[in-house]
Amino acid sequence: GWSAQAQTQTQTYPSRPLTMVIPFAAGGPTDVIGRIIGEQMSRSLGQSVVIENVVGASGQTAGLRVSQAAPDGYTFLIGHTGTHAAAVALNPKLRYDPLSDFTPVGLVNTNPILVVARKTLPASNLREFVAYLKASEGKVTNAHAGIGSVSHTTCLLFNSIVGIKPTEVPYRGTGPAMNDIIGGQVDYLCDQIVNVAPQVQADTIKAFAVAQAERARSLPGVPTTDEAGLPEYKVQVWNAMFLPKDTPRPILDKLNEALVAALASPAVQTRFAELGADVPARDLQSPEGLHRFIRSEIDRWTPVIRKAGAVLDQ
Ligand code: MLT
Repeated sequence: GWSAQAQTQTQTYPSRPLTMVIPFAAGGPTDVIGRIIGEQMSRSLGQSVVIENVVGASGQTAGLRVSQAAPDGYTFLIGHTGTHAAAVALNPKLRYDPLSDFTPVGLVNTNPILVVARKTLPASNLREFVAYLKASEGKVTNAHAGIGSVSHTTCLLFNSIVGIKPTEVPYRGTGPAMNDIIGGQVDYLCDQIVNVAPQVQADTIKAFAVAQAERARSLPGVPTTDEAGLPEYKVQVWNAMFLPKDTPRPILDKLNEALVAALASPAVQTRFAELGADVPARDLQSPEGLHRFIRSEIDRWTPVIRKAGAVLDQ
């Protein structure tokens, strides 16, 4: 059993501000989702949720930091498809285990990936874009948020299907990568819809396709990859919440309740809908559901990375 002191800490949790660690630069998709959910969670928890962007090593610096934090409920992470699934296959030296070094809290959102480019790129649809990529191979630049990030792995997949090897340009997140797409310093990016939707709506970039079977409600003018002629390219990514391993169950339950309440709130649902993020099924919002989901995502991504990597290494 716990000591009396630990029990008191559990009963009064949270009695001070919480820190939500975001593994990528401010203004990018993980940061935007984290801030939306954190603000709503702070209301039901009665404490502020302080956002800390711990940037580096494609999100793995933040992952390591939270895996080693005190399991007291005050420090938690927004991880994603990159940090908690694809990184396993891509990085043999990954310094945390996405399952055993964390206490899963719940899935936060899923969202589709879009292929986008600088506005001045001379292509007006996906077919023309692919032709341009093939003709300019070696010169064309592909922005991403570091090896193993979502923007890297999903473009690895895209590039392997198209059959090109671009020059890769890593950033500290797709927030800054998107700024350089807007500015025209880099050519293209595979990015989460929450980062893409505001730019397409403002007409500052080109979006060639959304990599899923249905058009995104927040971007009805952007064709699917089926419609645009690249049906093999379909990919969905997610963000999820993690505490350090060995967090006491009552603390986990309190944080999970706050997450579930936030995801059910009209404020979060409206914002997610505007940006194109989807609220996950209720069972995936649970610790057990997220645990099973992460396991299946690691299994799903490992062969995808190997196959795409093999094509690229030829
Ligand atoms: C971000 O927030 O910058 C992205 O999630 C990074 C990524 O592409 O994985």
